[in-house]
Amino acid sequence: MSRSAHPAGPRHADVLPEGHYAAPPADLNTLDPKVWAQTVERGADGVVTVGGIPVTRIAEEFGTPAYVLDEADFRARARAWRDAFGQDADVFYAGKAFLSRAVVRWLDEEGLNLDVCSGTELATALSAGMPADRIAFHGNNKSAAEIERAVHAGVGRIVLDSFQEIVRVAHIAQSLGRRQRVQIRITVGVEAHTHEFIATAHEDQKFGIPLAGGQAAEAVRRALRLDGLELIGIHSHIGSQIFDMSGFEVAAHRVVGLLKDIRDEHGVELPEIDLGGGLGIAYTSDDDPREPHEIAKALTEIVSRECEAAKLRTPRISVEPGRAVVGPTAFTLYEVGTVKPLDGLRTYVSVDGGMSDNIRTALYDAEYSVALVSRTSDAEPMLVRVVGKHCESGDIVVKDAFLPADLAPGDLIAVPATGAYCRSMASNYNHALRPPVLAVADGEARVIVRRETEDDLLRLDVG
Ligand SMILES: Cc1ncc(COP(=O)(O)O)c(C=O)c1O
Repeated sequence: MSRSAHPAGPRHADVLPEGHYAAPPADLNTLDPKVWAQTVERGADGVVTVGGIPVTRIAEEFGTPAYVLDEADFRARARAWRDAFGQDADVFYAGKAFLSRAVVRWLDEEGLNLDVCSGTELATALSAGMPADRIAFHGNNKSAAEIERAVHAGVGRIVLDSFQEIVRVAHIAQSLGRRQRVQIRITVGVEAHTHEFIATAHEDQKFGIPLAGGQAAEAVRRALRLDGLELIGIHSHIGSQIFDMSGFEVAAHRVVGLLKDIRDEHGVELPEIDLGGGLGIAYTSDDDPREPHEIAKALTEIVSRECEAAKLRTPRISVEPGRAVVGPTAFTLYEVGTVKPLDGLRTYVSVDGGMSDNIRTALYDAEYSVALVSRTSDAEPMLVRVVGKHCESGDIVVKDAFLPADLAPGDLIAVPATGAYCRSMASNYNHALRPPVLAVADGEARVIVRRETEDDLLRLDVG
């Protein structure tokens, strides 16, 4: 990513410390629609609104920090994915990105399917009324109890992740008198992240069964032999935050190669192929994600081309976007606490949350944007690092960004694109109380996941 240094005004040295800086935007008050949820805008009084509600009112009513989710945007993105793939393909929202009962209902209403990867994600989905046959169950270490629950509920597919699991699921299905629809997750030797992919040696991971060395072919052989299983397809997931489709091209080529081998060996054409999730979103103005219809067109063309070359009937495609559906639809609203300028370096802006509500910066070196949302400011831009309140120097929310130099305790700032893997990965570090998720729709904000309380924490502490 090309980024250039830029002096940040008299509160900072002319030479900035090492790091990645976008040049400060010409106007810090302007919100880039690329990174903000669809209904977010700045009102005439300078206060940012979402779904027509000022963030100041949200903070007053629900407190901070809070995840604020634009329901209309979520539904629109879900529909865009469903429509892009049409009748001949299936979209499974990856619940790991963010799952709650309200979200399950929205997905059901918008015609999406759901991918879960634990017994408790499954329980959440079922409790919100998602039909079991529209649920896919993932995981590299599903327990016997989880498998039993999934088979018993009648999930549409279980994605098998190991040789042991092939036997385990077959056995459990048979003992329940069922024939379980399954896919086999394989690793195709491709790992993709953002703008690049690497096509070697990425079998060295805990997920899937390697294509290399004939292991995937052997897994298929075993699955086809077991009465408790109906093998419906092959699954491949190659990475996360991907913008470049060439990794999918290589993956599809290899998956279709396996389908061809299966046809040649067993005389069976498997009817489905799942290409996983991993499609990227804009966290900063530098990111340029593709639209669902472009992704759908590219993926279906790749698979059709490969199948034509292999003289196979084109299988039904499924995809599992998580981040690309929910990521852009939410922002985290924080109140500014301590503002600490470090001469010649940058200003540390502490907020009332941190790595307990967004671990991605510490975990993946993720980049985020940030804006002052409770007012506008004409002050010059200052280079900031937005940090949390945890006892950890790596407790960083936004590594490098610009905020107005008159930023002060009590201001509200918001970090956009926090819908995915923030609440779902939130922790109680330092006994932080995990923030609520507020859904905003039709001029109303409502709690869909409530804020944790001291009582919630103390109730678990039974010593
Ligand atoms: C099998 C599988 N499918 C889908 C996803 C969702 O990925 P994303 O949220 O990046 O679309 C993941 C993420 O890890 C995954 O492992």
